[in-house]
Amino acid sequence: MKKIFLFLLATMLLTSCGGNGAAVKPADDPARAANFNKTYPIVDSLLKVMTLEEKIGQLVLYTSDWDVTGPSIREGYIEDIRSGKCGNIFNAYTAAYTRKLQEIAVNETRLGIPLLFGYDVIHGFRTIFPINLGISSSWDPGLIEESACVAAREAAAAGLHWTYSPMCDICVEPRWGRISEGAGEDAFLGSAVSRAMVYGYQGADLEDPFTIAACVKHFAAYGAPHAGRDYNTVDMSERWLREFYLPPYKAAVEAGAQTVMASFNEYDGTPATANAHLLTEILRDEWGFDGFVVSDYTGVMEMINHGTSADLADASVKALNAGNDMDMQSGGYSEFLKKAVEEGKVSRKILDEAVRRVLTVKARLGLFSDPFKYCSEEREEAETKTEENLHTALVLAQESCVLLKNHNNILPLSKNSPVAVIGPLANSADDLLGTWRGAGQVEGVKSILDGIKEMAGSVVYTPGCDVEKESQALFSHAEYAARSAGTVIMVLGEPCDWTGEAASRTSIRLPEVQTELLKEIAGTGVPVVLVLLNGRPLDISEESELADAVLEAWYPGTMGGEAVARLLFGEASPSGRLSVTFPRNIGQIPIYYWAKNTGRPYVDIGAKYESRYLDCPNEPLYPFGYGLTYTTFSYGKPVLSSDSFGPGGSITAKATVTNTGSREGCEVIQLYLRDMLGSVTRPVKMLRGFQRVLLAPGESTEVEFTITQEELSFWRKDMTYGPEAGEFRLFIGGDSSCEDYVTFTYND
Ligand code: BGC
Repeated sequence: MKKIFLFLLATMLLTSCGGNGAAVKPADDPARAANFNKTYPIVDSLLKVMTLEEKIGQLVLYTSDWDVTGPSIREGYIEDIRSGKCGNIFNAYTAAYTRKLQEIAVNETRLGIPLLFGYDVIHGFRTIFPINLGISSSWDPGLIEESACVAAREAAAAGLHWTYSPMCDICVEPRWGRISEGAGEDAFLGSAVSRAMVYGYQGADLEDPFTIAACVKHFAAYGAPHAGRDYNTVDMSERWLREFYLPPYKAAVEAGAQTVMASFNEYDGTPATANAHLLTEILRDEWGFDGFVVSDYTGVMEMINHGTSADLADASVKALNAGNDMDMQSGGYSEFLKKAVEEGKVSRKILDEAVRRVLTVKARLGLFSDPFKYCSEEREEAETKTEENLHTALVLAQESCVLLKNHNNILPLSKNSPVAVIGPLANSADDLLGTWRGAGQVEGVKSILDGIKEMAGSVVYTPGCDVEKESQALFSHAEYAARSAGTVIMVLGEPCDWTGEAASRTSIRLPEVQTELLKEIAGTGVPVVLVLLNGRPLDISEESELADAVLEAWYPGTMGGEAVARLLFGEASPSGRLSVTFPRNIGQIPIYYWAKNTGRPYVDIGAKYESRYLDCPNEPLYPFGYGLTYTTFSYGKPVLSSDSFGPGGSITAKATVTNTGSREGCEVIQLYLRDMLGSVTRPVKMLRGFQRVLLAPGESTEVEFTITQEELSFWRKDMTYGPEAGEFRLFIGGDSSCEDYVTFTYND
């Protein structure tokens, strides 16, 4: 009986109703989202026959016992699947295991509704790309999209349908360990990255079994916890939220992302999990999101700790009513929703809408037509860590590294020259994979030391010290190695579990022993190239004085060892640019380039009553957008097509950029605007465009940017969104500290 019913449903499914007119419109490529807003007759048919328990089961998500990313596991999740109490599973993968669980759902439950399998595919699944902060430092949305596409192919081949990515949390707080998972401090760059990731995961057609559904997280403003402590309170004005924090989430939704994860934090006194303003008013009513919202891990239950619900029953009611469709891991929906619906605390309409959204995403993924189409072991074998995948990882790792200093052009080193490799992280392949490494495995991954051995003439290696233990017993050995080699590559930083979830720190310095080791080696007078592995902006004021060259490598992933070595020895040139400001010290935090001018801007050296510190400059150590390569560039003054425009119009800004050095190099050309007068205060600079260009020695190129009213728009005094008439400054340069500008006016 059940099978016949399913066949009928499957036949109906083949005829999609087409677009439902929802406002999900990818900003720059409507064709890509063609099937992302389809509706399916099977969903209505199912809703008509589902029992209350079966409906609630579709709103329940449990972890398997394979891989746990939070504090609890529910015993007996397999029995929950069999009894229809759990319609979605995460942390279970491989074609074989997902098939096994899927068979239970499809063959042993009354309606045979397929399971949805989710997982944290954050910067790769088997082939691991650099951590996301590194990925964003590439400023290369095309390659970022490709990396997400590779991740999707590998994950989909292992039975997965759904990734908890992109993480769109803007962050100006390096103490927060999860800064490593995002795209940095800027809403414009963050939007480009999140859009690219959604495109990469979801492709042009979700029914294609090589694509997976994206999940925009953590909605919203999770990246702004007070004092940088994970899960801590978030509070900011609605204006600040909308202008500086929401755009990357919105860009991902507009790109067609099928799901959104509510964040752990509160916003304006209400936990995001039950925040109707965020989950319904902004997400659905304003942005037209028609996928489903999932809580974060035990997010529903945590409303008790937040102190806004007395018990899990109340938390479950509040979460669902506010727009949180699916309960990850709390078990509250499963246990309490039936009674809540019967008592009228949750209306049948709200319940049905939530179920409809979940079933619709399953239908969009093609699961009703073939629940096992993601479970092919042959495909899994064929897709995993292919040469192409590894190549993409290599190129992205190269592009994500940022050269911060290169005194006397010490880099690139000549191939085949002798080097001493020193530092506790040089020989670690494991740390290269970073936090949230999916199903990435360290076997076969080359450390930076391994990579260097393939390039240098001879290599002597000593760790020099432990990552953080104070002992200096190996210092003299390291010093001897340095002197005998004549050039030193030091690999220092944080072990990879010092960033990521629940990994906040009150210090953003290197462990003291590592700085001491660097001092010792630099004291020999032997040139030192410092390679940094870390997942947050660090205070490296002292280290960057001591070292001759500094290469920020983040955690560069499966191919990171080779990528770093290729950069050091000139097989590739650095082209990464910081997506986040590096402070001079922790006292400058939060520091970000899009700051406001204030009423007392710092202009005169020595003037007392200006917005400044007594003991430190206002400027960061390295600004947003900064990064060197093995050549230099000069910029001509921007030329505007007109010095004014009005509603519906546009102007273009052109600038000539020349490679003034003797090597080919890639420049990331950045366009910033400043709105000189507003009904509310405006940042002193706002990134509004960027282009990566590759230039041969001596070559010039003319880049062109178009400015429309969108680039000028903001949340005005009356909280409407749009531009205001007046003067604007336009800067084109190589980082956010660029100073030359031209002006234009926008007329009403
Ligand atoms: C994290 C999410 C993650 C989820 C599932 C939570 O602890 O905050 O980012 O997607 O676990 O693993």
